[in-house]
Amino acid sequence: MGVILEPLLWCIKYRPKNWDEFVGQESTISHLKSFAESNTLPNMIFYGPTGTGKTSAADVFSKAILGSSLEANFKSLNIRDIWFMSLTDAKRTVQDLAKLGREERSELEEYMSIVYREANDALKLKGRTSPPNRSQLLQEAIRFFASTSTVTDEKIKILVLDEADALSHSMQQALRRTMELYSDACRFILITPSLSGWSPAIISRCSVLKFPQLTEEEIVAHIMDIAKKENVTLEPDAGPAIARESEGDLRRAINLLQIIATNDSNVTEDDVYTYSETTLNRTTREIVSLTIDGSYQDARKMMR
Ligand SMILES: Nc1ncnc2c1ncn2[C@@H]1O[C@H](COP(=O)(O)OP(=O)(O)OP(=O)(O)O)[C@@H](O)[C@H]1O
Ligand SMILES: [Mg+2]
Repeated sequence: MGVILEPLLWCIKYRPKNWDEFVGQESTISHLKSFAESNTLPNMIFYGPTGTGKTSAADVFSKAILGSSLEANFKSLNIRDIWFMSLTDAKRTVQDLAKLGREERSELEEYMSIVYREANDALKLKGRTSPPNRSQLLQEAIRFFASTSTVTDEKIKILVLDEADALSHSMQQALRRTMELYSDACRFILITPSLSGWSPAIISRCSVLKFPQLTEEEIVAHIMDIAKKENVTLEPDAGPAIARESEGDLRRAINLLQIIATNDSNVTEDDVYTYSETTLNRTTREIVSLTIDGSYQDARKMMR
């Protein structure tokens, strides 16, 4: 089986580009729509399990609010990506990066090279001689975009912090201060799987919007729609099987459909179980737990 390149991934091709393209999430989408229509832009937290439309909704909402000034006044930072970025990479200058080909440098690397210098200069001003550490860099990455003035007539900017659950407690405190300090110029959309671990001080400053797991019916309807557009035949039991295997995660459902359809444009229920990672994972989990529980014979039966 060949690797499917990113632009050809159906979950990217069918990423919602406007409110009508969202599946489920009616109450959340209607809140966001009315915020956008009344030009209301609070700080927000989007929370819910993976593959339910959080990042897509942040994009569509920001586009609805900022319109043509989106490019200048919108930024999305993935907190985990920044946290795990190597300091050596972050340290590269804009000139170093310019020497690399367009394909070899990412937008985040370019941004972090500016952030590194800002953080370094700020430390020098305070009389420190050591270079910025990871958490100083992350704080500066957030502060830098929030603090720079808007380029266009638009008065407000939007900063999306994706995978914001990776912020430690002390970084959450720093974020709260940044949110307050730049509240005239920048609004934040924080994206996280759940609210646990979040400081009440941050939660109380945000409109909190929940993205619940999608239902099997919603997933089946969406999968059937994509199958039709892609000329894939879904046998009657295959759609519900994909929905069950993907456990409310629409990205996983679309990926599973695409992987199966790449091999055979007639998708059967059996194909779903053959290609589904969850079934394999679940079987492994069952074997392990049977072994731990002492039912070694039963575990052996499953392994055969
Ligand atoms: N509610 C939805 N309506 C339509 N498509 C969706 C929805 N949720 C997810 N998808 C599909 O799944 C893909 C991933 O969605 P998205 O990135 O918005 O999810 P997420 O909630 O941010 O997930 P994660 O927590 O893993 O980042 C989208 O590109 C889209 O194809
Ligand atoms: Mg996301």
